[in-house]
Amino acid sequence: MDVGTAYGRKPGQSLLELTQVGPGTPYGEVLRRYWQPVALSTDATTTPKRLRILGEDLVLFRTRRGAAGLLAPDCAHRGASLFYGGVEDDGIRCCYHGWVFDTEGRCLEQPCEPELGRHRDRVRQPWYPVREYHGLVFAYLGPPDRKPAFPVYDVLENLGEGEAVYADDKSFGAGGPAEVDFNWLQHWENVMDQFHIPILHARFSGNQFIPEMAVLPECTFSYTEQGVRVTAMRDFSDGRVLTRLTDVVFPNIRLIPGPRLTVVGPTPIVGWAVPFDDTHFKVFTLFRATNPDYLATESLKLGDGKNWHELTEEEHQRYPSDYEAQKSQGPTAVHSREFLTTTDQGVAMLRRMMAKQIKAVADGGDPVGVVREGETTTYHVLAGSYFDGVPAASR
Ligand code: FES
Ligand SMILES: [Fe+2]
Repeated sequence: MDVGTAYGRKPGQSLLELTQVGPGTPYGEVLRRYWQPVALSTDATTTPKRLRILGEDLVLFRTRRGAAGLLAPDCAHRGASLFYGGVEDDGIRCCYHGWVFDTEGRCLEQPCEPELGRHRDRVRQPWYPVREYHGLVFAYLGPPDRKPAFPVYDVLENLGEGEAVYADDKSFGAGGPAEVDFNWLQHWENVMDQFHIPILHARFSGNQFIPEMAVLPECTFSYTEQGVRVTAMRDFSDGRVLTRLTDVVFPNIRLIPGPRLTVVGPTPIVGWAVPFDDTHFKVFTLFRATNPDYLATESLKLGDGKNWHELTEEEHQRYPSDYEAQKSQGPTAVHSREFLTTTDQGVAMLRRMMAKQIKAVADGGDPVGVVREGETTTYHVLAGSYFDGVPAASR
């Protein structure tokens, strides 16, 4: 008798408590306890922009005096969208009856009411706090009494001669669409998956990085104070041994050392996989470099040096990369059908740590890494590429 045929296969299930991001969902509430990048600063202009973040529709704008604002789109009067509003010195004016709201949702004016609205201070347009850091707009979408200090990253501070920090929102760069159309966790988990590098990025699709990355690494996995780390050792058999530390940092941050090894030491690249909703996300990145093209030059090269957007269906098949592998796991991966093995240890550790944060929040506590004292808190980046062993962790 044939064994293992597809006949009668039961529908699979996804780990919804880890993948869903909307208000009230288990991990959605974890994500809401941290500042999240939501747009490039250059996207916040006097022309309102629609955003969808963690399943919530929002409108981003910048007042004529320069303050970024993030408001619910449906006007507190009768629900017309502020996407059609007009931006003024200190707020945005609804197109329907002209109510004006400032960046914190206060109603400044109701032009058709006596005295421009005697009771206008009773109205509040729902809003979220924002702040800008190195060219990205960050927002805090969580409970106001839990707002954390704003984290800054040591690799993005104290710049050297000729260096600058650049912001990027192209997700996979030349290797995929800027707005990615599957569940964000498939991508975040991939950060822990070092074994796909020699296979997908070296053997399968031709060498997409540098020959050294084709060496099968020896990996160990560990928890850090705020996430999970994979330590990948590669012996290049020429006297060089590379130790490459790749970290996920809660709740959705990735610290990936550039795979072309042009930087030795801590990675100057900090990325966030920000869910728009359950099946769309974008990777926002900040990186320190002397050259604004640094991130693009680190990214993978597809067959014949083409851009992902230029590939035919047949070329996508011949040169699959991160996008093809992760997207084809489904709009949301079907976890009940997985067969995790030793190489998936980092993925399993990440999921366990996610479940812990869900419980911490449900029990009324703070998830990992949340600091509430002070305006800012500094995160020390150790993830990186090292040839002479890893310097002792200084945190
Ligand atoms: S609906 Fe916005 S002012 Fe009336
Ligand atoms: Fe990859």
